[in-house]
Parts: sequence; C-alpha cells; structure tokens
Amino acid sequence: MISTCLPQAGLPMPAGRLGRYENSEAFAEYSLGKIKSLEMKKILKKFLPDKLFIIYRFLKKQLRFVSKDKQVHFDTNSVYTGHLKVTYRGIQAIKCPFDYVIYQMIISEMKPDLVIDIGTNKGGGALYMADLMDTIGHGFIHTIDIKNQRAEIVSRHSRVKFFTEGWQNYNLNEARGFSKILIIEDGSHTYEDTIGALRKFSPLVTYGSYFIVEDGVVNELAKEKGLNGGPLRAVDEFLKENKGFVVDRAYCDMFGKNATFNVNGYLKKVK
Ligand SMILES: C[S@@+](CC[C@H](N)C(=O)[O-])C[C@H]1O[C@@H](n2cnc3c(N)ncnc32)[C@H](O)[C@@H]1O
Repeated sequence: MISTCLPQAGLPMPAGRLGRYENSEAFAEYSLGKIKSLEMKKILKKFLPDKLFIIYRFLKKQLRFVSKDKQVHFDTNSVYTGHLKVTYRGIQAIKCPFDYVIYQMIISEMKPDLVIDIGTNKGGGALYMADLMDTIGHGFIHTIDIKNQRAEIVSRHSRVKFFTEGWQNYNLNEARGFSKILIIEDGSHTYEDTIGALRKFSPLVTYGSYFIVEDGVVNELAKEKGLNGGPLRAVDEFLKENKGFVVDRAYCDMFGKNATFNVNGYLKKVK
C-alpha cells in the first residue's frame, strides 16, 4: 500500500517539489517515517484519554532536540520589543504586526469615509492607513496628537489632516458630512483618557464600523502602572454602558486568544 505512493527506491528524483531529497530512497525513508509517526499518533489518540494525549504531545515537543539556531521562540514581550522598531516607509509606526494585518482587512472591507486616529506620534500608522486608502481610492484620516512630531512625508499626504490640540479639543463638527466613521484610540492609554475618548467619539461610529481601543496588552505586559487600569478597564466599563458595541472576537482571536495588542479592543457597532 505504502510503496504504491512512493517512487521506486534508488531512482533519481525529478526536480521540483521533492527535489530537496537526494534520491528516491531518501524520500521514501522520509515518507515512511512520516507515515509511521502519523499512524502512531492515530493509535495513541485512539487509546489515550484526551488529557493524556495533550500531555504526550507537549512532552514530545519539549523533549525533541532542536539545535539552537533552529529554535522558534517568541512571546508578548519579544513582540513588544520588536514593535517599537517597526517602521512604515521609514517612519516609526508603533503597532503590533498582527494588528497591521487586521487594520488592512478592516479598511479594505469597510472602506471608511473617515478614520479618526487619536495619537499620531511620528505618523507611521496614519501613513500606512492613508496609503491603504489610496489603493482603494477612498477615505480620509483625521489624526490627533498633543505634540507636533510627525514626519514630513506624512504631512504631505493628501488624505491626512492633522490636529495637535489633543482629542479633548477635537471639534466633532469636523466629522460632519462623513457617513462611515472608524475611530482608533492610541493616545496616552490611561483609563481616564481612554474612557473619555470612548464616550466622546463612540456616537460617531456607524453601524458595522469599529471603535478600536489600542494597547490593552499593557496589563499582560505588566506596564499598566500609572494608567489606572488602562484601556482594559475603560473597555469593560464602556461595554457595560453601551449595549450597541460588542468585542469582535474574530479579529481579537484571529492569531490565537487575544493575539493582538488591542486586547478586547476591536469594538464593533452592532446596533
Ligand atoms: C503610542 S503613540 C501613537 C502611535 C501611533 N498611533 C502609531 O501608529 O505610530 C501615543 C501618542 O499619543 C499621544 N497623545 C497623548 N495624549 C494625547 C491626547 N490627549 N490626545 C491625542 N494624542 C495624545 C502622544 O503624544 C503619542 O504621540
């Protein structure tokens, strides 16, 4: 049975997908090994209770020898360190890599008329979204900070308008005339600022759109000191007072349970 799906031993391997095996014997050996381990896995799965099987898999992984240069290891702390080094078109863009992908999906699917982006910093995040909007040919960004530290290239983007008096002084009339509005809160991350911004800007969020609260991960990273509970406390409180929003688990859990820096932070307007 097995031999029928393998090339005849000793024959040279055709170039292409299997060409990395020196010859058909090497490939046969590899395939048999794979099949045996799959069969073993099936047998163990059948006879071991679920929990024991999970322990078996865990131990197998731990005991497997992997040379140091081939090991894979990353966690929330290493992603945090890395995300501070991320640039977009050379401009610092402080977001978790998973979230760039999610932002891209939301902007392409929703095609917002306006994104209100609280916390410009150097403007890498705003530039990324503005370029995405260029590719779909739709949308504008109002980006707000308390300092003017944005890079020149961001200042010149025709889809971006800057506000430097903080979210507290943004005049909501600026959003008049836009129908599909998406809000991103990436400011100081204190509980007070986050809940304040949620209360001020959430009425602008249109049905099916999002209020994205960034950096609830500070609690997981034990960096919430001085933030008075930070974004997570604000989100919990906001959701109790606002039944029109739910946490979109599809985005929060796309790469693993809350594998995002916006922990429980993709708030979708559902009614
Ligand atoms: C984490 S950085 C923003 C990163 C940026 N969104 C990006 O993608 O690169 C936080 C920014 O929030 C700004 N900030 C602090 N308080 C603010 C407020 N009240 N209104 C608007 N921005 C504020 C800070 O000056 C800082 O530049």
